[in-house]
Amino acid sequence: MGAESLSSLPLLAQLPPIPSSHSPRQHQKKPMASSLSTAASSRLLPSATRARFSLSSPSPLSSLKCLTSSPSISHLFLHQRRSWSSVNVRSGSYSTAVTPKCAASNPDQLKSAKEDIKQLLKTKFCHPILVRLGWHDAGTYNKNIEEWPQRGGANGSLRFEVELKHGANAGLVNALSLIQPIKDKYSGVTYADLFQLASATAIEEAGGPKIPMKYGRVDVSEPDQCPEEGRLPDAGRPSPSDHLREVFYRMGLSDKEIVALSGAHTLGRSRPERSGWGKPETKYTKDGPGAPGGQSWTVQWLKFDNSYFKDIKERKDQDLLVLPTDAVLFEDPSFKVYAENYAEDQEAFFKDYAEAHAKLSNLGAKFDPPEGIMIDDGPAKAAPEKFVAAKYSSGKKDLSDSMKQKIRAEYEAFGGSPDKPLQSNYFLNIIIVIGVLAFLTSLVGN
Ligand code: HEM
Repeated sequence: MGAESLSSLPLLAQLPPIPSSHSPRQHQKKPMASSLSTAASSRLLPSATRARFSLSSPSPLSSLKCLTSSPSISHLFLHQRRSWSSVNVRSGSYSTAVTPKCAASNPDQLKSAKEDIKQLLKTKFCHPILVRLGWHDAGTYNKNIEEWPQRGGANGSLRFEVELKHGANAGLVNALSLIQPIKDKYSGVTYADLFQLASATAIEEAGGPKIPMKYGRVDVSEPDQCPEEGRLPDAGRPSPSDHLREVFYRMGLSDKEIVALSGAHTLGRSRPERSGWGKPETKYTKDGPGAPGGQSWTVQWLKFDNSYFKDIKERKDQDLLVLPTDAVLFEDPSFKVYAENYAEDQEAFFKDYAEAHAKLSNLGAKFDPPEGIMIDDGPAKAAPEKFVAAKYSSGKKDLSDSMKQKIRAEYEAFGGSPDKPLQSNYFLNIIIVIGVLAFLTSLVGN
């Protein structure tokens, strides 16, 4: 089954069809994903255990996060002992004031979830849509708003129906359906982390660069915390370069990052029934892999390389897509410098892409712990170079003659010389003699 043929999945069955209009809809109070996670949480706790807990936290789900972060019950209680404080025990039952102290996501579960994502990619070929999912959760960030989550960004808000229905997100419900089983399996991984983990893993598995990711993103909890519609770029604006700058500068990203990130279109296809862009099918997409159809930017649209820049520059193949926002990368003088370079130099593209992707994935995110969680499983990084002071001195410099004489005189006053260092017990003897003299002097004085 391909990434797009998912109508049999239960999540899809709960959803009305994606509207083609971009008009904002009324927020719904009960998000499907949140009710799913509630169900998952209660599945993890035996009923007897649930009955013994009486939590008065304003957000019981978030308080339960530590408890539900492990799929095994024995681990669950171990984890509870380690992570919770201020537990009042009254007549054998837990009562109020439970303060969970744990990170947003569990590192072991993040690592396992990454392995599951790799398996998913192998069977569904859904690399492109997972990259788009991560990008659309993060890309709502507004650097001019300080408060979280109003500032938008990578906070998992894209799981809520109200945001999935934004015109720019057409089709992303399929991506959510694909990774929801992984979310259900690893309740100790937040949606915000899972979206970014899935995206970075998809890039790496498609042959792209290793992305220096960190995790620990906190999830928003309510659909009311979703950003308003219209923060993501639109391929069809009259002045594409102005529009791209307006949107990406608002995220705090630069021209170089705009061009590098656009290179993600080396993966995937555009479907007219979703975004309105692209052909229904081409010779490169009619047989899949995954669900057939759509128009790709590149011939090998499941391979991450720099062919996007080469193909857009040449524009020789009518079967390959070039959106106005892609074309402008070779028209705008500032964008062009980077686009030309990336078309020539894949290594330069990979380096800049990896940095820009990591930056994008952190936009607007609130990390717990604040420094984030590393789950790097790649080849061991070179150990940081040892600090060698001599390396930073101005080289081997001889002491001046007068300084040498001064040092020699000081040694000789103690009966030694710089060539023949003094024995350490020589000093000890002197200290003992001084001590005895001081003692005798004090006796005489008395
Ligand atoms: C520069 C502004 C951008 C515009 C205007 C834009 C627009 C689009 C459009 C119209 C589609 C087709 C969606 C569909 O019909 O299913 C698409 C797909 C895609 N976009 Fe972008 N995009 C932009 C930037 C990005 C960035 C920054 C990334 C990632 C870092 C990205 C990753 C993708 C991917 C991987 C797909 C393919 C999805 C699939 O095959 O299902 N895009 N984009």
